[in-house]
Amino acid sequence: MADKKASENIVWHSGQVTYEDRCALLNQKGVVLWFTGLSGSGKSTIAVEVEQRLITSGKLAYRLDGDNVRHGLNADLGFSTADRDENIRRIAEIAVLFKDAGLITLVSFISPFRKMRQFARERAGSAHFIEIYVKADVETCASRDPKGLYKKAQNGEISDFTGVSSPYEAPEQAEIVLDTARFSVEVCVEQVIEYLNNR
Ligand code: ADX
Repeated sequence: MADKKASENIVWHSGQVTYEDRCALLNQKGVVLWFTGLSGSGKSTIAVEVEQRLITSGKLAYRLDGDNVRHGLNADLGFSTADRDENIRRIAEIAVLFKDAGLITLVSFISPFRKMRQFARERAGSAHFIEIYVKADVETCASRDPKGLYKKAQNGEISDFTGVSSPYEAPEQAEIVLDTARFSVEVCVEQVIEYLNNR
């Protein structure tokens, strides 16, 4: 977390254009879709499809993905608890800016800790935050192992691997639960789109 003193003597400067103005311009509501789940649970795959569906239907969406963001903005962070917290803190702040810009912002990070997902929810405002639990047990994710990381973690070649040697705190009150061990990507994507349409 940033040193509080570093932001002393800084005064918020409001502009003249509001969140509502931007949403009206885009004819949509800026919102954060926060996908959370184990590596290999299907977060990114589903988020990619949902983003595509939104764009096709004329909605401006933008996706932030753990593996991608860790190449750039968060390239300085590893997988200790402190680094994961900082990873999610930065992403939450970015997601809030994108949401404020009026975008449907899809965030797909393991985000294993409840405390930081709650932080993101509070920063976005609960009315603008939809937590999506991409649910698949470790055995299912390890059997998929698209990046070969579970194998490495089980062999001790990677430490602090979520679900193997680092905890995952499942959401208790996610707005949407996608059971990817039972349902196909198409069914899960549809579930998200339907939820958005009903809102
Ligand atoms: S988070 O825990 O801080 O939210 P994030 O979603 O950014 O994680 O990154 C997870 C991705 O990094 C995984 O999909 C995987 O490809 C890769 N990765 C590398 N090392 C680890 C590790 N120790 N634990 C989890 N994921 C890891």
